[in-house]
Amino acid sequence: MRVIVERDQEGVSRRAAQFIANLVRRRPTCVLGLATGGTPLGTYTELIRLHREENLDFSRVVTFNLDEYVGLSATHPQSYRHFMQRHFFDHINVDPRDTHVPDGRALDFEAYCEQYERMIADEGGIDLQLLGIGSDGHIAFNEPGSSLGSRTRLKTLTEETVRDNARFFGSEQEVPRLAITMGVGTILESRQCLLLAAGATKASAVRDTIEGPITAQVTASALQLHRDVIAILDEEAARLLERRDYYREVERSQAALQEGRLGKFGLAPS
Ligand code: GLP
Repeated sequence: MRVIVERDQEGVSRRAAQFIANLVRRRPTCVLGLATGGTPLGTYTELIRLHREENLDFSRVVTFNLDEYVGLSATHPQSYRHFMQRHFFDHINVDPRDTHVPDGRALDFEAYCEQYERMIADEGGIDLQLLGIGSDGHIAFNEPGSSLGSRTRLKTLTEETVRDNARFFGSEQEVPRLAITMGVGTILESRQCLLLAAGATKASAVRDTIEGPITAQVTASALQLHRDVIAILDEEAARLLERRDYYREVERSQAALQEGRLGKFGLAPS
């Protein structure tokens, strides 16, 4: 896993937006996997800025969101569909028909989840999946104990997640107890994953994800099996990583290689 440590959340957002913008420029028809929550907000703001000021073009981009609360309609202020419209889709030129957020009001969930998987496959799979992380180390709504091979399905939220997400609702009682979520297996099939984390409350989940054993108790740890994951963290979220200095050295070496500063490696042209 590539680990990039930025000074603060703003740095995380800017860096993540750069990766996404580069992909959209390189492949205008790319398929983006998107996430909700407080963490990716700044990334969306920066992408909107790039759209407005630098003509970043989303007109042929297709998007799939990770998850949605069961029971909330698309217009409910706390639904993830509403979140995406308000914080991203309404401000860029993506075709609304190409934005997909699971339908939390689907009646036949089993059939709907299969259909969601099929839609992703029909678009050729996800090129880049943006991910936040829960304080218990979950990705999307794959709570501890989720199968690491899981596919899109219904999931019961843990008390910890309900508590964490209550800040977006009036009270804990209003937080839905069920969600529809891409599975860990679905996420692992994306071609690249960007895992974002900021703030001290994520530090232990980040340590367990990056340096702990691969376990269904920390579903983000399954990302260690993926060949192309970039974790972008702020200092606080990276605080408990033992190999922090090494990750920094790797980034310095990469930058030197890219800039052709080969002397550092004893490869200076004669
Ligand atoms: C929810 C979402 C996750 C998100 C997590 C953390 O559980 N389903 O996708 O990563 O919250 O959210 P935040 O970024 O607000 O801490």
